[in-house]
Amino acid sequence: MDSIRELLAREEAGGEVTVRGWLRTARHAKKMSFLEVNDGSCLSGLQLVADSTCDGWEGVVRNLSTGCAIEAVGQLVDSPGQGQRYEVHAQRVELVGGVDDDYPLQKKRHSFEFLRTIAHLRSRTNTLGAVLRVRDEAARAIHDFFYQEGFIQLHAPVITLSDAEGAGEMFRVSSLDPADCPRTEAGTTDWSADFFGAPTYLTVSGQLEAEIAALSHRRVYTFGPTFRAENSNTSRHLAEFWMVEPEVAFCELNGLAALAEEFLKSVFGRVRDRCEEDLAFFNQRIDDQVLSTLSHVIEEPFGRITYDEAVQILQESGQEFDFPVEWGVDLQSEHERFLTEEHFGRPLIVTDYPRGIKAFYMYLNDDGRTVGAMDVLVPRIGEIIGGSQREHRLDVLRDRLAEQSLPEEHYWWYLDLRRYGSVPHAGFGLGFERLVQFMTGMTNIRDVIPFPRVPGNAGF
Ligand code: 4AD
Ligand code: MG
Repeated sequence: MDSIRELLAREEAGGEVTVRGWLRTARHAKKMSFLEVNDGSCLSGLQLVADSTCDGWEGVVRNLSTGCAIEAVGQLVDSPGQGQRYEVHAQRVELVGGVDDDYPLQKKRHSFEFLRTIAHLRSRTNTLGAVLRVRDEAARAIHDFFYQEGFIQLHAPVITLSDAEGAGEMFRVSSLDPADCPRTEAGTTDWSADFFGAPTYLTVSGQLEAEIAALSHRRVYTFGPTFRAENSNTSRHLAEFWMVEPEVAFCELNGLAALAEEFLKSVFGRVRDRCEEDLAFFNQRIDDQVLSTLSHVIEEPFGRITYDEAVQILQESGQEFDFPVEWGVDLQSEHERFLTEEHFGRPLIVTDYPRGIKAFYMYLNDDGRTVGAMDVLVPRIGEIIGGSQREHRLDVLRDRLAEQSLPEEHYWWYLDLRRYGSVPHAGFGLGFERLVQFMTGMTNIRDVIPFPRVPGNAGF
């Protein structure tokens, strides 16, 4: 049985077809009913036209309403109507699943806030339906890019002992009963009695494991869920998000920046080519800059500056920022957006951040005050990628752990890698939802993941 997408793509009308899906609208005129069916395969629905010759006319067709699940058989014919190529003259319509009267998705625009409260139904709307297809295409494009570039996909663990970012933003994983957990003599929770015999957490990043694999397979990547217990109620943060993390051995910061640019352009290009209808919809309904920005980003070379230069530009900009800029502070979203949107007007790779504000694993530059970090900033989103060359020198890495008060025993194997065949290597993490946000123009990250997890909400 063909999907609606396949039916609409046919060379010509003709022949009997079967359609299964959910009704977006049902309009009943005196002698005819017009049923718009959507099956998720594309934005467009297929119009079914039925009259009294249709099997099911009395008992089924005339009672159909928005939301009903149906199966129909009919002839695919050229549509006389505007904006649709074909329609189906129904010969038989069956009701597969009816809807109660309180079906919340009626033919009007609902706010995204409201739709979040009905995440079990919102994928049936045009916008969320299109988001799911763009997400899918982007994920496939990512896997294909790495496959073509000779990367091995690594499945990193979700449960972990180590804080890969050293930022202490982890969710604890435990099978102990919080009301009655075993205690040590000192009266604290005895984690040695827990499932894994040690305190465990949900991973914040697959990077450290990706480094292991890069030091045997040279070019690897992970693509999995990551978790951050940071209390950020913003339009760009989730507590659970998907991250894409390539890691490359025998690679330094410049090679990494080139990879990031090539990677983003390839994924954007593929989605632009294959999700034409959905992107046109986003451009029309959500943000009229979506298509032009996407093309601009695919065609123009990314800018490249150091953190030092970024600070200078921001300080000399004459802008009133909420967070004043001085050397040593982390760039805030308002700074990132000014740089990429206003000053450069294109994506920007900022490198060599102060050592004090970046993770322990980043390569310490010869100047001693900066590390080989790299953030990719894009218009509207700000940071979409964060990465770095890794510290591959054992002594420097140990100093960096100590500097950040991270216990060496948690990172013993990570240190081992610096003792056995260590090589310069580098990698980055792409926030997958931010990528989807960028491509669709959706303002809130909660609307580009089917089931968002944010502070105070893990429903569905
Ligand atoms: O910059 P981050 O924290 O870097 C890392 O986790 C490194 N271990 C990556 C690496 O080098 N392998 O996160 C990487 C990206 C960010 O640039 C951002 O796009 C996204 O992940 N990200 C989030 N996306 C949604 N919600 C959050 N709370 C996010 N935190 C980071
Ligand atoms: Mg970052």
